[in-house]
Amino acid sequence: MATQIIEGLLKEIIGLDSTSIGSATINRSVRRRMLACKLSDEQAYFELLTTSRIELQALIDEVTVPETWFFRGVEPFRLLAEYVSMEWQKSHPGKIFRVLSIPCSSGEEPYSIAMVLMDVGLKKEQFHIDAVDINTRIIDRAKLGVYGGNSFRGDEGDAVSRYFHEVTNGYEINDSVRGSVNFIHENLMDENFLCGREIYDAIFCRNLLIYFDRQTQAMALLKLYGLLTVQGMLFVGHAESGCVDNALFSIVRREGTFAYRKGKEVVNAISSGGKVADGPNVVNEPNVVNRPNSKDGLSHKNNIKLSVRAEASSSAISGSPVKKVINKTLAEVIPNRNYEGLLIKATQFANRGELDEAGWLCEKQLGLDAFSADAYYLLAVIREAQGHILFSQELLHRALYLDPKHYQVLIHLAGHAERQGDLAAAATYRTRAKRLIEN
Ligand SMILES: C[S@@+](CC[C@H](N)C(=O)[O-])C[C@H]1O[C@@H](n2cnc3c(N)ncnc32)[C@H](O)[C@@H]1O
Repeated sequence: MATQIIEGLLKEIIGLDSTSIGSATINRSVRRRMLACKLSDEQAYFELLTTSRIELQALIDEVTVPETWFFRGVEPFRLLAEYVSMEWQKSHPGKIFRVLSIPCSSGEEPYSIAMVLMDVGLKKEQFHIDAVDINTRIIDRAKLGVYGGNSFRGDEGDAVSRYFHEVTNGYEINDSVRGSVNFIHENLMDENFLCGREIYDAIFCRNLLIYFDRQTQAMALLKLYGLLTVQGMLFVGHAESGCVDNALFSIVRREGTFAYRKGKEVVNAISSGGKVADGPNVVNEPNVVNRPNSKDGLSHKNNIKLSVRAEASSSAISGSPVKKVINKTLAEVIPNRNYEGLLIKATQFANRGELDEAGWLCEKQLGLDAFSADAYYLLAVIREAQGHILFSQELLHRALYLDPKHYQVLIHLAGHAERQGDLAAAATYRTRAKRLIEN
């Protein structure tokens, strides 16, 4: 029983879907940590997890799968080289090429990226690589930069002779490469994930989505969407292409790679002049992650009034039947491919209790406008009604970040804080909301 609760905790905190690696594997990790803590009672261990961040991190380090190697899959790295040399450099003279590798594991992927960029002639100061992972042990290993045979599985070509030197226990990466990667310990599930950082021209997110369920995959991809420049390129793993929402991204046709660009048109590999097919997302975007790009934020530009009331939402909509629309196309839900008014439609679905449909439409809306606080708000209300409390809170924080004057978001957050016994936070949210009415 406690193991199931621990699985639930891992799901909430790092997005791990227990079916992806199996309960038995999670159970083994839990047992190892219980042994290390000299605990034999699962309930006691669960309580320790909820009070000790150190032990929670130790379990995360134990349970995550860090399997990786240099130039894994090869083709995505070739495509990256082409993209930079044939397109990006031409359209961004004098600019710094920014890459995100999430998850980076022990560093093989971001270091491979650095080598590719050096090989196409970029100097260290002409690119920036942020490499993120939740596993602290693995990040320390990445910073050390010493690799054994398991990290080289034949995809690396002559990179070893050019970018490594031999040491007693393997091969150490040369300082020129090591210094070009910025390792960060962060959790993709965090509401403030990489907030305040500049967005990226290329994102490698390979072999992480496979550990998430569909909903978490959708949320993760939305975050990556917001982190990618309009003309940027997203790389996912070969088993993950089915997770990518084609309302948000279009696939780049290239054998052996699962690369995507923003917009709805299919893109044939590299375009010559740095342009991608026009999609709804080709807009002036801010270059910092998730900042509202007008004084009021974008959320009220369509003057949408959400009829789903924050306080009433759970009881009002949770009782109705929930239909599955995962495999429906957008056109099936909204005839004549009329994509306008998605949020209004979503609100109608939500009010009828058709929560899956409503949530799905909110995600589509966020695909069209990643800065829509209203869409985040409505999605939060829907997810809460579906019982995903932490996820809902994360969405509310996103909405508030985009629109600090969103009355309903403030009231809803106050409700969450009250239910969690954080009366001080609740009072702060309510005071902020009250001020909005007074002004
Ligand atoms: C299989 S490795 C993938 C490494 C590399 N991208 C590749 O494809 O070779 C998966 C990594 O995901 C990391 N991870 C799992 N959940 C995460 C999360 N919520 N946020 C950040 N990293 C996470 C794990 O720590 C692990 O190192």
